[in-house]
Amino acid sequence: MSKSITFTVQPSASLNGVVRVPGDKSMSHRSIMLGSIADGVTHVKGFLQAEDAMSTLKAFRAMGVEITEPVNGEVTIHGVGKHGLQAPTEPLYLGNSGTSMRLLSGLLAGQNFDCTLTGDESLSGRPMRRVTEPLALMGAQIETETNGTAPLHIKGTPNLTGIDYVLPMASAQVKSCVLLAGMYATGTTTTAELAPTRDHTERMLQGFGYPVTRNANKASINNSGKLTAVEIDVPSDISSAAFFLVGATIAKNSAVTLQHVGMNPTRTGVIDILRLMGAKIEVLNPREIGGEPVADLHVTSSELHGIEIPQALVPLAIDEFPVLFIAAACATGKTILIGAEELRVKECDRIQVMAAGLQTLGIEAEVTKDGMIINSGTIGGGTVASHGDHRIAMAFAIAGLRAQAPITIQNCANVNTSFPEFQQLATSLGLELTSAE
Ligand code: S3P
Repeated sequence: MSKSITFTVQPSASLNGVVRVPGDKSMSHRSIMLGSIADGVTHVKGFLQAEDAMSTLKAFRAMGVEITEPVNGEVTIHGVGKHGLQAPTEPLYLGNSGTSMRLLSGLLAGQNFDCTLTGDESLSGRPMRRVTEPLALMGAQIETETNGTAPLHIKGTPNLTGIDYVLPMASAQVKSCVLLAGMYATGTTTTAELAPTRDHTERMLQGFGYPVTRNANKASINNSGKLTAVEIDVPSDISSAAFFLVGATIAKNSAVTLQHVGMNPTRTGVIDILRLMGAKIEVLNPREIGGEPVADLHVTSSELHGIEIPQALVPLAIDEFPVLFIAAACATGKTILIGAEELRVKECDRIQVMAAGLQTLGIEAEVTKDGMIINSGTIGGGTVASHGDHRIAMAFAIAGLRAQAPITIQNCANVNTSFPEFQQLATSLGLELTSAE
């Protein structure tokens, strides 16, 4: 179990330098999942060595897959084939990782063995009916707690049936869960999205040679394909880069280059939103690596102004709102977010917790049912609670770039779930951030 860690950030002047943030979390999870059920040996570069992706890795080891210990982001997976997973001898503990739990529930529903998925306190409070309901329509047998939360007890059902499923919320985890289950179901399984969400599952399945038909907002899969091992080069996580995109924008005299950032169009909403607010972000050297667009991003200080965030951009920037709220606090005028109720069921209620922290620091932040209204103000000092949410902790650390006094952020150990190098990279760029146990 992680120790309790407190961050303290001193008012810092500027951010300058060139960094490569760690690998994309979503792709890292999927590289282990698909590499494990592929035929042959998959090599991954740029793998995110952080607790969440390691939860997925350990789960597959527990199901009999030989996976090397990652070193400098390189990991080798000795795939066991689509039907080669073995029953784990113990419940699979997935820590803080919603992606692990929701994608694994789909992948494991159609196996010929039973298993149980568990997680930490935060994960054990998150809604899982959004995956168990479509899986039940496919014939899966999964028991949850009475309020639809983990542990998930999965009774393997090797004869799932394909479904046509219209996603009731914008969720790549739910879409991916259903598609992964569809690999083990008779007939065709089709997902339809009301708004586009990240499509790494569809892209990576195709990269492994597994047929996925994509048409407008629909993706279809059936059980006739197989996965063939590949080389995977995971780009840097735009969700981690976002902290420095905002940091270098709000701090005076700043210029930061972020190298090799994943630029999948289902993930770049943060750049669009910051640009609408007046940020200067240049996209350099765009290229395609392993079926995913990648670029270097150069960002310099700029004056931001408040906006009404276009609702269509919300799912494309869903993980970046904690730090976008900090940008909003530094922008002249009012920033209004609506249509973001999904933020309430992330690692914590990110609307409530960010508003409370901003108010502590002297910013007017009004909570609405599905978003927030933030007025520009002067960020003061104080002690804020991160509620064990990695992205809340890092967002308030970035607020230090415009704070009048030190900010103390409690309960930051979970930064290790997605970005263990955050403190080191942030201080190398000029943020005066210390941590204490
Ligand atoms: C993820 C999907 C998103 C995102 C999460 C990672 C994924 O969640 O918030 O951090 O890897 O599929 P939802 O799909 O539930 O919105």
